[in-house]
Amino acid sequence: MRKKIIIGNWKMNLDFESSNYLIQEIISKSENINVNIGIAPSFVLLDEAIKNTKYSKIKVFSQNLSEYKSGAYTGEVSASMLLSIGVENVIIGHSERRSIFNENHSILKNKVENALLHNMNVVFCFGEKLEDRKSNNYFKIISKQLKDSLFNLDVNLWNKIILAYEPVWAIGTGETATPEQAQEIHSFVRNLISENYSKTLSEKISILYGGSVKPNNAQSIFSQKDVDGGLIGGASLDSNHFIDIINSI
Ligand code: 13P
Repeated sequence: MRKKIIIGNWKMNLDFESSNYLIQEIISKSENINVNIGIAPSFVLLDEAIKNTKYSKIKVFSQNLSEYKSGAYTGEVSASMLLSIGVENVIIGHSERRSIFNENHSILKNKVENALLHNMNVVFCFGEKLEDRKSNNYFKIISKQLKDSLFNLDVNLWNKIILAYEPVWAIGTGETATPEQAQEIHSFVRNLISENYSKTLSEKISILYGGSVKPNNAQSIFSQKDVDGGLIGGASLDSNHFIDIINSI
């Protein structure tokens, strides 16, 4: 059975107080829920989030990390810094990092290798833009995103990887992929892993969907056979919505 997980990507939202409050709400409302739950607060909130979630089942993810190990890189946060405060999980390759901060395949490849070198767990995001979907180019784009940043990895390292399909046109737009569109890509990606590694590995990898997942559409997306959970943006900032989504899996 593949691991099912729902992760809230808080992006650049919340502050010290509101983040602590949301964490307490999620912990108390998820006490009797048997699903893997993650939250990804911004860097400055991670230390407190680790402390606040210590006795809960909530896992804390960083939204990013540096491609470099240490040194003169003003403003960057390294894998070892994250580990030193207890953060063992990181999101890499989010489309906002790719498009706004120009993170290309080689930067993302370095980030993944760096995280894995530090034994961190990686959620690797990929997904096509609207123009790629309209031009029917999306299979090619997605193959390239995965091949260029991940398919160089030794098979043994894949037990530290979770994938997240996030079509750019569905992020923060209110326009979600249909369950069939999500399933089509998830199954395509599983085949790619099978071709490049093995069928056994392809069956083991969890693939999450992200992009305008809300309480009213979560169930239909999560019911698809190759969708193993979600990466939730806006709706994860409201504890009731987030819990409703978690309960939909
Ligand atoms: P929304 O759920 O706000 O569309 O964001 C999705 C996302 O980018 C999660 O990483």
